[in-house]
Amino acid sequence: MAPSPRETSPELKEALEDTVQMVDKAIGRLLPETDLAEAQLYDAMRYGTLAGGKRLRPFMVMQSAKLFNVDPARAKRVAAAIELVHAYSLIHDDLPAMDNSDMRRGKLTVHRAYDEATAILAGDGLLTMAFQILTEPETHEDPYVRCALVAALADAAGPHGMVGGQMLDLIGETTEFDLGSISRMQRMKTGKLMAFSCEAGAILGKAGDMYRRALTSYAYDLGLAFQVTDDILDVEADPNESGKPANQDDKAGKSTFVSTMGKEQARQRAEMLAEQAIRHLHVFQGRAKMLEELAYYVLRRRA
Ligand code: IPE
Ligand code: IPE
Ligand code: MG
Ligand code: MG
Ligand code: MG
Repeated sequence: MAPSPRETSPELKEALEDTVQMVDKAIGRLLPETDLAEAQLYDAMRYGTLAGGKRLRPFMVMQSAKLFNVDPARAKRVAAAIELVHAYSLIHDDLPAMDNSDMRRGKLTVHRAYDEATAILAGDGLLTMAFQILTEPETHEDPYVRCALVAALADAAGPHGMVGGQMLDLIGETTEFDLGSISRMQRMKTGKLMAFSCEAGAILGKAGDMYRRALTSYAYDLGLAFQVTDDILDVEADPNESGKPANQDDKAGKSTFVSTMGKEQARQRAEMLAEQAIRHLHVFQGRAKMLEELAYYVLRRRA
């Protein structure tokens, strides 16, 4: 097996930093400060979305859109929408009824900084807003494309995707999962939103099935490599680096790749999945370099 490149290239570093800035700006505009009576809701939505986060899903949207020469102004709206859904998923994931986490992105979680009810509503607000953004004509002039984006995001975020995966994650605390069940859970929990992020560029660019399938296949393998790495980081990362508490999975008795096959085998599995992910990009004949590099980046990350 070829060793994974150790260093992040200056191009990837710059592209990731640009995405962080772009997303912060876009979300800041979508969620302006307000003095409405319900301002606490907006404050919590801002708190849960601004400052912090790697913005990997928006990066996938921007990079996949680039492959089909999509207007970046349109892609940015989809990038912001997926980040709002991701942030909602984290706010609810951290709630006492779920992972009961106090820290996220190096700050108190939304329910700790505000309260549980506000955190639930902030998540609801972000999820709903994301769909609203996709329906607006500025996202694409063709209503068919807007509808396709809405349908794909609904599939990725809902019971067939992230929400279903989160249910399995909780069931896995009291039920012994085999490797197949863990893979399926992680594909739903994490892979589906990443698959949407990569497919979004192809939907915006009205690309053919071959390219759409290549991007979703890439994203599923990358998503799995990403979540396996997240499970490894849970046992070995420094909370000062990761921004979230350590050993949360073990404490809750979660079924993860690490709990099933151990850290070293999990690491090998993640490497294999990253290589597999890259293979799917060969149809782009070297034009998807940033996505190729991203597959190794998710393995090396410490947060
Ligand atoms: C954390 O996602 C939740 C998982 C799906 C494991 P990220 O690691 O992408 O979180 P941020 O957005 O960078 O904080
Ligand atoms: C969360 O997975 C995935 C979501 C769909 C939100 P984790 O529970 O492992 O994520 P972290 O470790 O809290 O970020
Ligand atoms: Mg969780
Ligand atoms: Mg969690
Ligand atoms: Mg985790």
